[in-house]
Amino acid sequence: MDARKGRSENEVKVSWIIEAIKAFVRLLSRSRVSQAGAVLVTVLFPALLLGSVLDVSGVLGNPYFGFMVYLVMGPLFIVGLIAIAVGLLFFRRKDMGPSDTFLFFRKQFESPERYRRMQWVVMIIGALTVLNVVVVALFSYTGFHYTESVAFCGEFCHSVMKPEYSAYSRSPHSRVKCVECHIGEGAKWFAKSKLSGARQFLAVALKTYSRPIETPIRGLRPARDTCEECHRPEFFFGEKLYVKNKFLPDEENTEVKTVLLMKIGSGGGDGHHAHGIHWHVSEQAEIDYKHADWKREQIFEVTMTDEEGKKTVFRSSEEPEIAEGEKGPWTRTMDCVDCHNRPTHIYLSADEALDQKLFSGQIPRELPFIKRQGLEAVAGDFESTEQAMAEIEKALREWYGKNYSELVSSRPEMLDKAVTGVQQAFAENVFPEMRITWGTYKSHLGHPDFMGGCFRCHDDEHTAEDGRTISGDCDLCHVILAEDETNPEILGLLGNAD
Ligand code: HEC
Ligand code: HEC
Ligand code: HEC
Ligand code: HEC
Ligand code: HEC
Repeated sequence: MDARKGRSENEVKVSWIIEAIKAFVRLLSRSRVSQAGAVLVTVLFPALLLGSVLDVSGVLGNPYFGFMVYLVMGPLFIVGLIAIAVGLLFFRRKDMGPSDTFLFFRKQFESPERYRRMQWVVMIIGALTVLNVVVVALFSYTGFHYTESVAFCGEFCHSVMKPEYSAYSRSPHSRVKCVECHIGEGAKWFAKSKLSGARQFLAVALKTYSRPIETPIRGLRPARDTCEECHRPEFFFGEKLYVKNKFLPDEENTEVKTVLLMKIGSGGGDGHHAHGIHWHVSEQAEIDYKHADWKREQIFEVTMTDEEGKKTVFRSSEEPEIAEGEKGPWTRTMDCVDCHNRPTHIYLSADEALDQKLFSGQIPRELPFIKRQGLEAVAGDFESTEQAMAEIEKALREWYGKNYSELVSSRPEMLDKAVTGVQQAFAENVFPEMRITWGTYKSHLGHPDFMGGCFRCHDDEHTAEDGRTISGDCDLCHVILAEDETNPEILGLLGNAD
């Protein structure tokens, strides 16, 4: 004490703090575990703080950066903190006896000098704890948002999610986050999704995921909890004009249109009766069905329960075929994704993809036979996108060089543009690396070739005991106003050029 005489109070304080820090370090160095923890925490602290701030301020939007910060450094930081605490409480140096930890603390409180120093140690520990809590809270918050982000879901597992992400990016839902359909609100689904997320993560790391990724995804949340956060079928009603632009595989690539009045109907709200297509998801009906295959393509029994609880069972005369290794049959209550199974991961057929590019002008329609030749060029069996791109280009250039050499030499840019357009139509829908080809993921929304989709049930073949069937009447779901016409009268009447 004497040695400190004559010094200003501030100087004394500073020396106390230095003493306390020394004591704190000594405390930490008492065990290897807390030493390691302290090193980890000291190194990670500034990195994490800077990382979270950079991420929140949007300076670095790279998904790998987020991964390093939140899923590697974050957990390590917490491990470091735990190591410090565990080290302090339970570990001793070799030369210390079992009760030394307790004795050590008791000694600290015995003499007034030590007591004051200990006060400072406690204050330092307190301040550091507050600081750590703030940092942990900050990165947990931003980290939570990161794992919910489209960047994490869609871009991080780049090659694996490329097809879904790329189809999603071009869909009406490209501004809706993956988690809004795949997880939705509530703690139960949150926990479930993080668990399955961890499993998927492992699958990606170990490359054990299936190619293509399996649909339907096991454990997808019932769609009505998620879709109905944004869409309420009881509030829509009426019919929707549906125009499909197509190009024929002839020399002129003739443009034709199919026009349908789609009976969207209503789930029945606001005084409207449930009717039309969205009658299936109204209060007035519950539809349960049994399917023989996991993909829900073979539906062999449909039970309709009306408002009064009366059940009507429609059965197919065909025996369900359960493939070897399948655990079916399964029962399911119909919801949105039984029809809208491709609301955002929309993969077009080759025909539709080329029509779309011709319609948007990315493939020039003046190039003779481009629809037909495009279809031929994209139909091959390719090992990789790279190979496909090269072969599509080769096929088109060869054919046009042989059959339209004059046109190609006078307007080379037209063929160049067509090649790029056809390549894009392919690359947006086919992903050889994930074994996704044309038609791998089927949509249930309509009835391509009068099979599948709605016709899984609406085939006039599923019959109830009283002989009633689930109708396949062409006017049940839509009124066909024009079919493959070059200039449909109805569009002229409506003043609708498209
Ligand atoms: C509008 C809702 C919606 C959004 C948004 C959405 N998905 Fe999906 N997703 C679905 C539905 C519905 C399925 C198919 C479910 C079924 O048939 O069982 C699906 C299927 C999948 C599959 C399984 C493979 C397949 O194509 O069937 C993966 C993987 C997937 N989604 C990833 C993503 C990623 C990554 C994002 C964000 C970039 C995303 N999803 C955004 C609704 C959505
Ligand atoms: C977070 C909100 C949100 C969720 C959840 C959501 N959607 Fe959407 N949906 C949208 C938006 C926004 C659009 C684009 C609307 C537009 O462009 O008019 C859209 C468009 C659509 C369309 C196309 C409409 C059209 O005119 O082409 C369909 C069909 C659809 N959603 C079905 C679904 C289904 C099925 C689900 C559940 C698997 C779902 N949505 C989940 C917001 C959502
Ligand atoms: C029986 C099949 C079926 C079911 C079940 C179904 N839909 Fe639809 N839905 C359709 C069809 C068919 C269309 C019109 C075709 C299209 O948009 O491509 C449509 C259109 C829509 C549209 C666009 C409406 C518009 O005016 O453009 C939305 C949004 C939608 N559905 C949401 C939902 C939601 C949400 C659910 C679940 C609560 C649901 N649907 C259940 C078949 C269904
Ligand atoms: C799982 C079987 C199943 C599937 C799949 C299915 N439906 Fe239905 N649908 C039914 C049943 C059952 C009825 C009621 C039949 C009856 O009352 O006789 C029905 C009735 C209808 C009705 C008449 C509703 C009314 O006004 O009473 C329309 C319209 C309809 N479905 C459209 C569609 C469309 C469009 C699709 C495909 C996008 C589709 N359905 C897919 C089972 C199905
Ligand atoms: C259970 C409902 C339902 C029945 C029954 C039905 N359709 Fe459809 N049809 C649809 C839906 C839904 C679509 C829209 C598909 C889409 O969104 O691409 C469609 C689309 C079409 C298209 C346009 C296809 C295209 O892409 O060019 C034609 C043509 C058509 N239907 C004809 C018929 C004929 C003919 C019958 C009678 C044999 C019939 N449909 C019965 C629901 C039905």
